[in-house]
Amino acid sequence: MGEGLLDEVAQAEAEMIAAAATAVERHDDSQAYFDAVIAADQKVEPRDWMPDDYRKGLIRQIAQHAHSEIIGMQPEGNWITRAPSLKRKAILMAKVQDEAGHGLYLYAAAETLGVTREELVDALISGRQKYSSIFNYPTLSWADVGAIGWLVDGAAIVNQVPLCRCSYGPYARAMIRICKEESFHQRQGYEILHTLSHGTEAQHRMAQESVDRWWYPSLAMFGPPDTESTHSAASMAWKIKRHSNDELRQRFVDMCVPQAEVLGLTLPDPDLRWNAERGQHDFTQPDFGELMRVVKGDGPCNAQRMDHRRRAHADGAWVRDAAAAYAAKREKQ
Ligand SMILES: [Fe+2]
Ligand SMILES: [Fe+2]
Repeated sequence: MGEGLLDEVAQAEAEMIAAAATAVERHDDSQAYFDAVIAADQKVEPRDWMPDDYRKGLIRQIAQHAHSEIIGMQPEGNWITRAPSLKRKAILMAKVQDEAGHGLYLYAAAETLGVTREELVDALISGRQKYSSIFNYPTLSWADVGAIGWLVDGAAIVNQVPLCRCSYGPYARAMIRICKEESFHQRQGYEILHTLSHGTEAQHRMAQESVDRWWYPSLAMFGPPDTESTHSAASMAWKIKRHSNDELRQRFVDMCVPQAEVLGLTLPDPDLRWNAERGQHDFTQPDFGELMRVVKGDGPCNAQRMDHRRRAHADGAWVRDAAAAYAAKREKQ
């Protein structure tokens, strides 16, 4: 083989390597593959290439969701010792325990994106990441356990059922299991309210007073109106989110109206009425100013919830140390 030909081969090889490196750098193939997966409604899995913003957005959303499950144990945990019967106590304990489980599935799903559990927990207790603002409201009566189950878990289901089809595999699969448990939570809350509403007059009043307090904060759980929602467009394009905040809020209202009738309770909105033209209910929007104030830390229980979480984290240090020591010992054997 002549020298000229060898040079040509070397040159061609160098060009191929450079082209491949550029393609990898620009994620040409990977981006095209990712786009095709999303377009075909298939799942993106942890080892697949994904755009940085997709990864970051998912970590933010899944972490916030996990934190909400964990902080959400507090308002209802508050009533375990005061549940009115052994049966109610057992049911409530199981429910609160489910929420811990949801937090764990979700932290595990977030970890597949390359963050550690420690980083996630630290982001919560340092206040860098948020949790759902609904849990910054107090549980003042036993009926609140019912109202939370019916309205808060109910709103969570409306939000989360479409997430079972979200494009990120581990998140979608965690949501399937979570939604099954959430529907049990919603039913147990509904049943508590139904019992109270059809009990004595004082019990009925207690149930109504609770629904009066939880209705608008529950509507606010769907987030700001579509015109002001910051994360929605990218989330929709990536098929993480499937419906807008306003669509989901409307769906929730339409679901609650007939249920409130069966409960014999009134939703505290004088302008709530069926709109035959739209085939949906007209209703009063929640106070989004209040939502933003509570998100920013000014809700009735923000400080209490965070103090409690930090204390529980510190109290659990010995358990984490013991688990780490045990794992290290097992590794040596
Ligand atoms: Fe949950
Ligand atoms: Fe729940």
